Amino acid sequence: MKFCCCFSYCFPQPSETSIIDVNKQEPQGENDENFTVFSYRELRLATRGFSASNKIGKGAFGCVYKGFLANGSVVAVKMLSVELESMRGEREFVSEISTLTNLKHENLVTLKGCCVDGTKRFLVYNYMENNSLAQVLLGREQNRIKLGWEARQEISLGVARGLAYLHDEVRPHIVHRDIKASNILLNQNLVPKVSDFGLSRVLRNDVSHISTHVAGTLGYLAPEYAFSGRLTRKTDVYSFGVLLLEIISGQTVVDFDLEHGEHYLVQKAWELYRANRILHLVDPILGMNYPKEDAVRFIKVGLLCVQETARFRPEMSMALKMLTNDVDMEGVQISQPGLVVDLMNIKLGQKTTFRSLYSSNLESTPSPLSSCS
Ligand SMILES: Nc1ncnc2c1ncn2[C@@H]1O[C@H](COP(=O)(O)OP(=O)(O)O)[C@@H](O)[C@H]1O
Ligand SMILES: [Mg+2]
Repeated sequence: MKFCCCFSYCFPQPSETSIIDVNKQEPQGENDENFTVFSYRELRLATRGFSASNKIGKGAFGCVYKGFLANGSVVAVKMLSVELESMRGEREFVSEISTLTNLKHENLVTLKGCCVDGTKRFLVYNYMENNSLAQVLLGREQNRIKLGWEARQEISLGVARGLAYLHDEVRPHIVHRDIKASNILLNQNLVPKVSDFGLSRVLRNDVSHISTHVAGTLGYLAPEYAFSGRLTRKTDVYSFGVLLLEIISGQTVVDFDLEHGEHYLVQKAWELYRANRILHLVDPILGMNYPKEDAVRFIKVGLLCVQETARFRPEMSMALKMLTNDVDMEGVQISQPGLVVDLMNIKLGQKTTFRSLYSSNLESTPSPLSSCS
């Protein structure tokens, strides 16, 4: 049983929801000239009526379809349905537009435009030929690509660059909040593009933000954020660390098909590290065809990023330098990782509901949330 569970829950505070009127929206930034407000008809034609055969993905907030625009360009169209009561869908739509129209980076997906039709919202992106890292690395056998060490290295570095850009170069800084394999798209050359900015947040006070709406994906979720709503750039660093361990191991963050004691990737990596057997984490399909020193370095960076104590985690720009071997990692201390394994019981301020790796029983029955697919 593979594990994947998106969730979001609100802390009892006023809603942050806002409603966007795309006709009044004037996107700004470097993508301006390319940003188009599409008509529903154009998108319906492009996707052959949103046919099942054009469907290329499904996420927490809607389905994604491959489309061919009249001008010949190939796009991915994400359809979001707005729930009028909760305004679910609207918030994600607004967030993606306001974030992505102002950003441009080789490792971020490009938003080409949007469309509003009744309670339906559409986001139009450049189509990525190799779909997502989740599909290519961790997906069904027929969709997988055998990724060698170099490909894994380049994908890891690309994601790190994209995140370092969001965290350091963009002002105010942006926290993505949902870094995971299915949100890393791959173009025809396997260049990674961070996508799905529906949960992203701008950090206006530069340091942290207490989230009234905790959201993310179980397994990738930084513990301090899960139980206190404290959002910082280190929240993304944690998720990046999990992703890095997945890229090196070819294993999903939680996999109950594996042997007892190996279900949780972060736990497995930490135990192998402590037993001085760190290379046992490397994906067996690589055989001996990978540089050992580099692999050790990548796994160590992964473990540094998932440390339980957020302030011990490196900033993204530092993690990137470590990965590229521009910083000496000799003597770097790694402390125990954090892991949220049960979200069912999380309530604001109840620290007892967070079960940290070594401070409590990890082997308990997975919650219903953690076993949904
Ligand atoms: N631009 C794209 N090109 C190719 N596939 C895409 C593209 N955008 C999304 N997908 C596919 O759709 C899935 C869901 O997209 P995502 O933006 O993450 O939606 P959600 O917000 O619902 O999670 C992705 O994991 C990927 O498989
Ligand atoms: Mg997604």
